Amino acid sequence: MFESKSGIVFVAGIGFFALAFVSNAFVPALMYKNIPEKKVEELITPNLRYQFEDLARRFPESFEKAYGTPPEAPEENEKWWNEQCATALRRGHKIYVGEGCWHCHSQFVRPVSNEEQRFGPVSRSWEYQNELQRPVLFGTRRVGPDLSREGGRRSNDWHAVHFYHPLDLSEGSPMPDYPWFFDGSPDKPNERGLAIMTYVQWLGSWLESYPYYESYVPSPLVKPEAEEEAGQ
Ligand code: HEC
Repeated sequence: MFESKSGIVFVAGIGFFALAFVSNAFVPALMYKNIPEKKVEELITPNLRYQFEDLARRFPESFEKAYGTPPEAPEENEKWWNEQCATALRRGHKIYVGEGCWHCHSQFVRPVSNEEQRFGPVSRSWEYQNELQRPVLFGTRRVGPDLSREGGRRSNDWHAVHFYHPLDLSEGSPMPDYPWFFDGSPDKPNERGLAIMTYVQWLGSWLESYPYYESYVPSPLVKPEAEEEAGQ
C-alpha cells in the first residue's frame, strides 16, 4: 500500500479524518459532558431584565398587547417579569432562526485577526451550553457584523427603527426590512418585534465584564420635539 503515492494519501486521509473526529467531537464531548445545559430561565441577567423593562417603558401599548399587565404583589410581579422575559427570549430565538438572520450574522468572535477589537471578548465554549444555542448559531458567513456581543450596544429605539428600515440608520445596508415585526410604524413593534429585540439584547448579556453595559448610559425617554411644539 505504501508503494504508491495514492496509497500514502489514502492512509493519510483516513488518519486525518480520525484525528479530526477525536479532537473536534470526542474530546469536546468528554470535556462538556458534566456541564449542565442551561435553560432559558437561567439566562436572564439584570442586564437583560433592564432591557426588557425598557421595552415596556418605551412601547407601553405594544408591550401590554403582547404580554398583558404585570401583577402588583411584589413576589408575583418579579416572577411575572422573568416569565415574560423567558417567553420573549424563546420566541426571539425562533424568529432569528426562522428569518435566517444567521445567513448574514455570525455569533462567534474568533481568536484571530484581532476580532476582539471589533466585536468584543473572544467567544468561549461555555457560552454555547444553553437552550438558545440549539441549534448552534455560529453562522457560516458575515454579510453583517458578528452579533454575539450585540446586547446593550444599541438602544431598543435604535433596533426598532433599524428592523423597520435599516437604510434609515445605515447607509447602503443590504439588511432586509422587517415590516412584519411591527403593527404599522417603527414605534409600534408587535409581539414578534418585541421578541427579536429582547433576543438581540440578550446576546452577550451573560458576560461578567461586559463591554457595553459597563459604559452604558440609558438614553432618556424624551418627547419628540415636533410633538412638544404642537402641544404648546
Ligand atoms: C442580507 C443579510 C442580512 C440579513 C438577512 C440580516 N442582516 Fe442584520 N445586518 C446586515 C448588515 C450588512 C448589517 C450592517 C449594516 C446595518 O447596520 O444595517 C446588519 C446589522 C445588524 C444589526 C446592527 C449591528 C450593529 O450594532 O451595528 C443587528 C442588531 C442586526 N443586523 C440583526 C439582524 C437580525 C436579528 C436579523 C434577522 C431578523 C438580521 N440582522 C438579518 C445584514 C443582514
